[in-house]
Amino acid sequence: MRDGTGPMPRADLLAAVEGVDALISLMSDRVDEELLDAAGAGLRVVANYAVGYDNIDVAACGRRGVVVTNTPDVLTDATADHAFALLLGVARRLLEGDDLVRSGGWTGWEPGQLLGRHVTGATLGIVGMGRIGAAVARRAAAFGMSVVYHNRRRSPEVEALTGARLVSLDELLRASDFVTLHCPLTEATHHLIDAEALRSMKRTAVLVNTARGPVVDEEALAEALEAGELWGAGLDVFEREPLVTERLVRLPNVLLAPHTGSATVVARDGMARLCAQAVVTVLAGGIPPNVVVN
Ligand code: DGY
Repeated sequence: MRDGTGPMPRADLLAAVEGVDALISLMSDRVDEELLDAAGAGLRVVANYAVGYDNIDVAACGRRGVVVTNTPDVLTDATADHAFALLLGVARRLLEGDDLVRSGGWTGWEPGQLLGRHVTGATLGIVGMGRIGAAVARRAAAFGMSVVYHNRRRSPEVEALTGARLVSLDELLRASDFVTLHCPLTEATHHLIDAEALRSMKRTAVLVNTARGPVVDEEALAEALEAGELWGAGLDVFEREPLVTERLVRLPNVLLAPHTGSATVVARDGMARLCAQAVVTVLAGGIPPNVVVN
């Protein structure tokens, strides 16, 4: 891992993996046939330093007997906190307020200044009710929000804890004041939130994405925000990271974060520990926790 210099260039990565027994990959590293060929037949484990593993061709790894692991649980709360921070930040227009104060343009308290969206009592739609979705649901319940969710399976435990209700995606988009995405990126979820989905959301709604950028059609989102079809968005992930659609950057009602959902010391330490444990376990002939199966 290199500090502050961005992801390792592909050519350097391909050269560096030659002959390795184990690889700790970042979500920005594409682990595909090309990389597996470059590593060679000695590669036994790819420990992905992320919970999402859409960067890895798991089937190709499986065919070669390479174990793939990820880092669930340790980043759940950090990511759920981040999603909630984005939700609150957009709802309460924190960026615009910060800007007003810093710029010296604030002339004093006014009854109608920077009015935001009320969070307590609002409906939160959670797309993807895995660990992080469930952690967001618990936070929402504590904020007095009603929760609806869309997921392949029901989550009776989350329903019992938070009063969440399983609904279709269409109903979720129509009913929610806030929509937060927590599904993995797959073929089925690519551009799940497209122009049509955005049109079916309330004009007063806020979209939060801490999952994967390509789940949202970024151009369509910019379009919807510019047209006032959506109230705001909090984005931690982008379609072509680290590039961000220029039109989004210019909008004051969009809060942008550089994919820092899991960026707390506790979470990142946990992720590092899980990766190290996976490598050591596989090289010692064992089966590590968090093996990813296709
Ligand atoms: C993940 O783990 O999938 C995040 O996107 C990086 O923490």
